[in-house]
Amino acid sequence: MSTVSDARLAALRACWHPVAYGVDVTAAPRATTLLDEPLALWRDARGAAHAFRDACVHRGTALSLGRVEGDEIVCAYHGWRYRADGACTAIPQLAEPTRVPARARAVAYSTVERYGIIWVALEAPRWPLPDVPELEAGAWRTVRTGPFAWACDASRQVENFTDFGHFAFVHPGLLGDPDHAVVAPYEVSTDGHVVRYAYGRPDAPNTEAFPVHLPYTIVEHIDWAGADGLVYFFASQPGAADACIGYCLVARNYNLEQPDEVIQAFERTIFAQDQRVVESQRPERVPFDLADELHLTFDAVAVAYRRAMRAHGFA
Ligand code: FES
Ligand SMILES: [Fe+2]
Repeated sequence: MSTVSDARLAALRACWHPVAYGVDVTAAPRATTLLDEPLALWRDARGAAHAFRDACVHRGTALSLGRVEGDEIVCAYHGWRYRADGACTAIPQLAEPTRVPARARAVAYSTVERYGIIWVALEAPRWPLPDVPELEAGAWRTVRTGPFAWACDASRQVENFTDFGHFAFVHPGLLGDPDHAVVAPYEVSTDGHVVRYAYGRPDAPNTEAFPVHLPYTIVEHIDWAGADGLVYFFASQPGAADACIGYCLVARNYNLEQPDEVIQAFERTIFAQDQRVVESQRPERVPFDLADELHLTFDAVAVAYRRAMRAHGFA
């Protein structure tokens, strides 16, 4: 691997990334991949979620094949037991199973559960998660949509979410109208690792700032004129150069009785329309050099995103 991509990977490892919806992490361990690192996700008897490197130190067996007993995960091959901090607590093959050598450890990564999502940082995270009070407020109803596993880099999935020009063509009749494809001018500004843009869709009464939190999280606040509000929270899990998983929360403070399936079905349609287009893009990862691809004024978010990603070492 080149020095440039080593530095890029190091920068990405030091960020929180989504790896699952919390409801999908149970006492039955599950496997996922974050930045080419295989992970075993599991939940202990007290309810805390954990993310381990998905390899037992003994023979490299996937810990995601194991089972959870109390607050420990037990390897499927020889039954070695690991507690939440990764320390091995018992080796059944030893006459005295608790006389465990110090090197017998699993790699446990920093894990938090927030907004109904499990977040993992492979190294100490350089920024906290964005605060989105609406997602934790009782008067709001949050719908989990997806998750959306796409065969592309997370950067392409994120850019698609910020791309206004495609609504008329990819989502005609749902989010746009081919006869009204002109993108109204909008403002973009960059503040540290946050790229902000404001955009009013012609069919929406008004909108507020839509921040992209580098590298792969977007928070959109949409204020319908009056007290009604909608929040789109989108975060993409970077699995590999050609694999990402999008988690999209849709929260609202009105129409609270509507079953979640209405929004889930709508987003399934929208994301499927986007998926075939975005998976076809080459290269699979956004080319962060602005000399690549052709940018026009209505692509200002993509330009600002690519600049900011480069400035923070993610390119
Ligand atoms: S490989 Fe895990 S206990 Fe032997
Ligand atoms: Fe789209």
